[in-house]
Amino acid sequence: ADPVPFYGEHQAGIVTPAQDRLHFTAFDVITDDRAELVELLQEWTAAAARLTQGKEAGSFGAVGGAPEAAPDDTGEALGLPASGLTLTIGFGASLFDERFGLAAKRPAQLAPLPKFPGERLDPAISGGDLCVQACAHDPQVAVHAIRNLARIGFGRVSVRWSQLGFGRTSSTSRNQVTPRNLMGFKDGTNNLKLEDAALLNDQLWAAAGDGSPWMAGGSYLVTRKIRMMVETWDRTSLAEQEQIFGRTKGEGAPLGGKAEFDELDFAAKGPDGKPYISDVAHVRLAHPSSHGGARLLRRGYNFVDGSDGLGRLDAGLFFIAYQRDPRRQFVPIQLSLARHDVLNEYIQHVSSGLFACPPGVRDAGDYWGRTLF
Ligand code: HEM
Repeated sequence: ADPVPFYGEHQAGIVTPAQDRLHFTAFDVITDDRAELVELLQEWTAAAARLTQGKEAGSFGAVGGAPEAAPDDTGEALGLPASGLTLTIGFGASLFDERFGLAAKRPAQLAPLPKFPGERLDPAISGGDLCVQACAHDPQVAVHAIRNLARIGFGRVSVRWSQLGFGRTSSTSRNQVTPRNLMGFKDGTNNLKLEDAALLNDQLWAAAGDGSPWMAGGSYLVTRKIRMMVETWDRTSLAEQEQIFGRTKGEGAPLGGKAEFDELDFAAKGPDGKPYISDVAHVRLAHPSSHGGARLLRRGYNFVDGSDGLGRLDAGLFFIAYQRDPRRQFVPIQLSLARHDVLNEYIQHVSSGLFACPPGVRDAGDYWGRTLF
């Protein structure tokens, strides 16, 4: 695939048609010097501008520098194309503290998420001062990018947690085929998409009037690592599986409908007099009509982190959603899912992240987060 432009009004990696692979990493800032943090963001931006265009992280590269110095690129992507790499940065609530004098600029949209029924969050794989989402069609390219950012950040940031994902579980453009999640269902059918210009302004991009002018053109990111009990799921009948989501497994059509992109009709009743799509079907609980029109741009990935030592796959969905205000979008949707979704018998949320992703980098003189500092 051609390189994805790095510069623009918005960061790449949000409405960019979802690539196949993910390496998501959260960092803790280990310096408390504001100037060092700004310098790091500038160095990261310069490296990201190069990496996303298929170049090496630094100008000397893996083998072009002095033999007695450590190379300014780690080398494992030599010869590989840009592979659609995007790098997207976000700032966690913990960055906005007294260390860097940013408390007054903390967006209200970063209010801590409430505790949701049934979740079992592991703090060691949650939160973080900074995050970088690397997406690419080649996993080696995504890993290479994160590894070089971590290398550049040595002494200023440390990796807090990271997650690899294979197989996108959403489409973010009408030109993409809808992929499947590890429960075998098409995922992303009713997602916000690149082509929905008016909805993106209304639901995705932060505006200057939203309380934090520095975030104008940015977006808020929620991540949730959701473990799936796939072995239990695999013993559930097809009919039950389809009832849980409210869609057919093969075509992905709404129950009672025919084709994947048919409108959801919650009033339509089957021969037994009951609605085809039940009141607690996942697509009903999550639907904009149940939440005052609130939508999400979902951009998650499948993961399998090996097995858990008890004979089960450690598998699930690394859920990623971008939005204009999590307090009006992710939170109410997830509250109703956590309370009513029958899917909860087969899943558990084990990690959580909430980040403010600043607007795009305009040109080579600009850097990630400039409007904040
Ligand atoms: C729709 C799966 C978690 C929000 C769907 C669909 C599937 C699905 C198969 C139907 C296809 C589509 O329109 O994309 C899953 C699985 C999950 C999960 C397997 C967990 C492992 C979540 C969470 C949220 C969410 C945590 C947000 C809090 C939505 C929304 C829709 C949707 C907004 C579209 C509903 C509509 O407008 O029709 N999901 N989902 N999902 N899901 Fe999930």
